[in-house]
Formats: sequence, C-alpha cells, structure tokens
Amino acid sequence: MGSRIALIGSLLAANCLAADLASTPPMGWNSWNKFHGNITGQIVREIADAMVSSGMKDAGYVYVNIDDTWEGQRDAEGNIQTNEKFGDMKTLADYVHGKGLKIGIYSSPGPQTCAKFEGSYQHEEQDAKRFAAWGIDYLKYDWCSARDVYKQTEMPAVYKKMGDALKNSGRPMVFSLCQYGLEKVWDWAPSIGGNLWRTTSDIQDEWKSMSTIGFDKQVNLESYAGPGHWNDPDMLEIGNGGMSDVEYRTHMSLWAMLAAPLLAGNDIRNMDDATKAILLNKEVIAIDQDALGRQAHRVVKDGPKEIWVKPLANGDLAVALFNRGYTAELMSANWVDLEIKGSRHKVRDLWAHVDRGRVSDSYAVQVSSHGVIMLRVTL
Ligand code: GLA
Repeated sequence: MGSRIALIGSLLAANCLAADLASTPPMGWNSWNKFHGNITGQIVREIADAMVSSGMKDAGYVYVNIDDTWEGQRDAEGNIQTNEKFGDMKTLADYVHGKGLKIGIYSSPGPQTCAKFEGSYQHEEQDAKRFAAWGIDYLKYDWCSARDVYKQTEMPAVYKKMGDALKNSGRPMVFSLCQYGLEKVWDWAPSIGGNLWRTTSDIQDEWKSMSTIGFDKQVNLESYAGPGHWNDPDMLEIGNGGMSDVEYRTHMSLWAMLAAPLLAGNDIRNMDDATKAILLNKEVIAIDQDALGRQAHRVVKDGPKEIWVKPLANGDLAVALFNRGYTAELMSANWVDLEIKGSRHKVRDLWAHVDRGRVSDSYAVQVSSHGVIMLRVTL
C-alpha cells in the first residue's frame, strides 16, 4: 500500500514537472529547416542575438534549438564532444542564457543520428548528465538508426530510458520525441516524460506537405494534447521561401489552432516584413499559447472549405475558416454548426486586427485561395 502511494506520488510529481516545463506549447527556433548540416556555433549566437533584436523573444519565442550535426566523437571516458563547427557547448549555452533565452540540443536513441553523427545509444544516462552540465534546457530525441538496433515495438521503453535519464540529470529539460508518429506515440509519450511528440514524417517547405500534415494528419489527435504534453506537427517553414505569404499565414494559423509547438525554422537574422508580421502576430500567438491548452478540432469540411474551432480559457472561441482550394471561396461560420449558443456575438479578426462588431447567427467572408480568416468570437 505504502509503495503504491509512493508510486502514485512520484507519477504525480513527474506529471507536474512535465506540465511545468511545457504548460503551453514550446516556442522558439530550430536550426534544421533552414540550415541543415550547415549550422555552426557562431550562427547559433547570431540567431540568439536576432531573437532579441527582432522582437521574437518578447513575443514568446524562447528556445534556441540546435538540431542534428553538432555532435563530435566520444572521448576515452565516453563523453560526447562537439565537432569543429561548435566550440565549447557550455560557453554557447551561457551565451544563449545571457540573452534571457533557453537552449535546446538534439540526439538519437540509436548509435547514429539521422545525419549519421554520434547518437546516445548505450550512453543515455551519461549524455543526459552531460547535457545538464552544459545547461541544456530541451532535448529533441530522434529515432533514426535506433531502427537498426531495436524493434519498433520497443519504442516506449527506449524513449522511457532517456525520459528517466533526463529526470535523473538534475536539470529540467523539455523532452521532445521525434519518431514520426509511429506506434501511436500519443498514447504513451506523456507517461514516459515526453512533453511533445512528432505526429508525422518531416515537413517540407511547400503547400502540399504543410497542408497535408496540418489539416489531415492531426484530425482525431486533439484529445491527446494538453498542458505539458503536445502533438507536434513539426517545425515552421514560415520565411523559408517555398510558400506564398498567404500560405505561410495559413501555416501559422493552423499551428496556433492545433496548439502546436511554434518553432520557427527560418533565418531570424534576415526576415522580411511579411515574415515578421506572420511570426510576430501576438493575437494569433495568444491562441496557440492559451492556458486552457485545447487543440482545435475540425467542425466543417465542405470540399476545400474547412472550419476549425479551439475553445479558450476565458470562454472565447478561436474560429479559423480555411480555404484549401485553388480559387477564392465565400465561407460562412454559422453559430449553430459551431455549437455556439445565442445569436449575437462579438467577433474580432486576428489577422486584420479589427473588431467586426456583434455578429448575428453567422459570419460570412471571402477567403482567398490557400488562405485563412482567423477569428476570436466572444460568447
Ligand atoms: C529527422 C527529423 C528532422 C531533423 C533531421 C536531422 O529527419 O525528423 O526534424 O531533426 O532528422 O537529421
């Protein structure tokens, strides 16, 4: 009995810790989408500077996450080293912390990462302790070559090993699972200490990839998201050039509706005004970061027209009208379809930043091809 109570106590403590760490979806930047293997310690420093000077930090983007290709060889004691592109990791972490930001790193449960650098296989405890000693705040843990040494069904145990190692490391670190949504990861990730988990394979900087991942692959996953544990439809491509500004606005809106992690994947040092306006839209960010932590669900699908709703902590409703088609469409959000009671409600347009007044029964609006109208409806 006593041991059961102790177990329940430690599970509750672990959950509280997880919830504290990512009570809202993590926000920050990650090196992979833009820089791939070209990321260096110097670029990470410049990105940290730019996170502050561009207003990204003030808007809530705090994690500066180094993805794959920082890893060097292990020393004689098995300690992982950085490679020549990165100097001393502790010094880099201190630099990022000095800007009031947090720093993330990347590894794999396999012998090698996806880019064929050193992974954490058989060094899990040692690596977690080393990351903690460096001052790391966030670990993305990517399956990659683990497929050569484990069976896929062993994933929960393999990820738990690192989840436990992080807990024992003495430093709180957000734990980001990257195994592409295999083995219904949403069922078990929170119980092994996961704060977020990728739900799909990698995003590409083009409409088809972004929209398939964002609209089609997240349906029915909404019940798994909540404070401390989030579905992760992958990092943002906004500003990388493969989509139009209209499409990037849809990307940002959809990720905010999904309560997805907002990890910018562009070169923060050089952002045009349109990219800034999208990434720094505080009214849209507030929907993503809403304290209730609910992920939107789709309430209307009519050919290319989709309406998604997300309940918010103060009783308001975020409503997004998306047009996935090739031509502009007239769309209406009918209060009845959205299960909104009462007829007249205050509507605010979160991209136009304009109050639309009190609207009766239905809000009708023209939505451009691949575009979105995102609203906050006060009930
Ligand atoms: C996988 C991940 C990506 C990125 C690369 C790095 O493809 O899904 O997000 O981390 O590995 O090699």
